[in-house]
Amino acid sequence: MNQIQTYIQTHKERFLNELIELLKIPSISADSAYKKDVLKTADAIKISLENVGCNHVEICETDGYPIVYGEIIKDKSLPTVLVYGHYDVQPPDPLDLWHSPPFEPVIKKTDAHPEGAIYARGACDDKGQMYMHVKAVEFMTATNQLPCNVKFMIEGEEEIGSSNLATFVKQNHEKLKNDVILISDTGMIANDVPSITTGLRGLSYVEVEVTGPNRDLHSGLYGGAVANPINVLTKMIASLHDENNHITIPGFYDNVEELSKEERAEMAKAPFSLENYKKALDIKDIYGEDGYTTNERNSIRPTLDVNGIWGGYIGEGAKTVIASKAYAKISMRLVPNQDWENITKLFAKHFENIAPKSVTVKVKPHHGGQGYVTPINSIGYKAASKAYQDAFGKKPIPQRSGGSIPIVSLFEKELKSKTILMGFGLDSDAIHSPNEHFGVWNYLKGIETIPLFYKYFTELSK
Ligand code: BES
Ligand code: MN
Ligand code: MN
Repeated sequence: MNQIQTYIQTHKERFLNELIELLKIPSISADSAYKKDVLKTADAIKISLENVGCNHVEICETDGYPIVYGEIIKDKSLPTVLVYGHYDVQPPDPLDLWHSPPFEPVIKKTDAHPEGAIYARGACDDKGQMYMHVKAVEFMTATNQLPCNVKFMIEGEEEIGSSNLATFVKQNHEKLKNDVILISDTGMIANDVPSITTGLRGLSYVEVEVTGPNRDLHSGLYGGAVANPINVLTKMIASLHDENNHITIPGFYDNVEELSKEERAEMAKAPFSLENYKKALDIKDIYGEDGYTTNERNSIRPTLDVNGIWGGYIGEGAKTVIASKAYAKISMRLVPNQDWENITKLFAKHFENIAPKSVTVKVKPHHGGQGYVTPINSIGYKAASKAYQDAFGKKPIPQRSGGSIPIVSLFEKELKSKTILMGFGLDSDAIHSPNEHFGVWNYLKGIETIPLFYKYFTELSK
């Protein structure tokens, strides 16, 4: 065992217990009923940063939830790593599908995690992954081997669009000045197939409202003679994909980056089993855009999905009614060169165009952001690759993810530095779903890998 492994073994129980305490606080940013808990989580993180040797820690107020900032500046001439993470979590519902309460963490073994996994909302996304960085810095300060400067910027509004963080970043260039941004808020292929995320998709999220008659109507007296907003909405939504599962919005694909044959061949080398994929999700067949593989469909191709749809009567029994209004929430995942604001406009224009005269539609844009691709020849990527090589005994595979962290492209624009996405979660960890968990092995492996990144990044920057 090397020094970091010994340190982790010695402090393992405490590392787990500290994370468990953090996971007990329901920091749900989307639900204002949890405001006190979100704020309490920020305070807890402030204390944890002080405890690992940050010499300047502050809670930076915003128009929303605060950003926790901490730093250790050893010497201005050394490189600076900026760590970003989020302390807010997704709402845990549906609650009845959790095997144990979402804010009462328990450790249980699973097939993917034979050494146990911590079950709790936020275990993987992102408290567990964010806290690996705090503990990695603890190791480096406790053993006097932090090789460079470090800044922490931990926000509480990632799950609701990071709009206040965007303002904070724009107003604090000097404070946030760095040589590389380090984030653990993504995943990897498998515990024995380490990978580094090199791409995130962009996002445009909209809500649509379709209005028919001015009031709910008796479906016998009016049915067939008046447009039913729910019928109309579902037909409009269905028309957004053609028979090849291409998106039909005019101009939608105009700027989509097409990958070369070589790049696609390289991607296809990543281990993937369609059988296991289907088994894990209990689906009989896969689905998607013609001409692309499953891994391409969920990373290098843009998509459109209804995230929620409602209207009319959904209570017990039957009520014969034609609703006045129907609604849907729709997300579009975007790829490099697609501009999210332009896509939002194209969507709105198309949706209004395809609406029959018998209804009126409103499109309300929510949040969005650009996609991101990080090069694999940067010092940051090379340092990360060497860190994984040491910690996992294998060279990590670069892999683009389908998820989004919209603020990352803004970091590059405003702070002019590249982001390295060292994610240690697995797709099966159920982020945003009931029974979210994070492997104990993954948590400790992350703590082991991060200091190696600091070491190699500082060496390669010389
Ligand atoms: N950590 C996730 C994003 C993620 C997960 C990226 C796994 C890659 C792999 C993040 O917290 C998240 O959920 N992002 C949202 C977007 C946000 C604007 C709400 C998403 O991707 O839906
Ligand atoms: Mn996250
Ligand atoms: Mn999330």
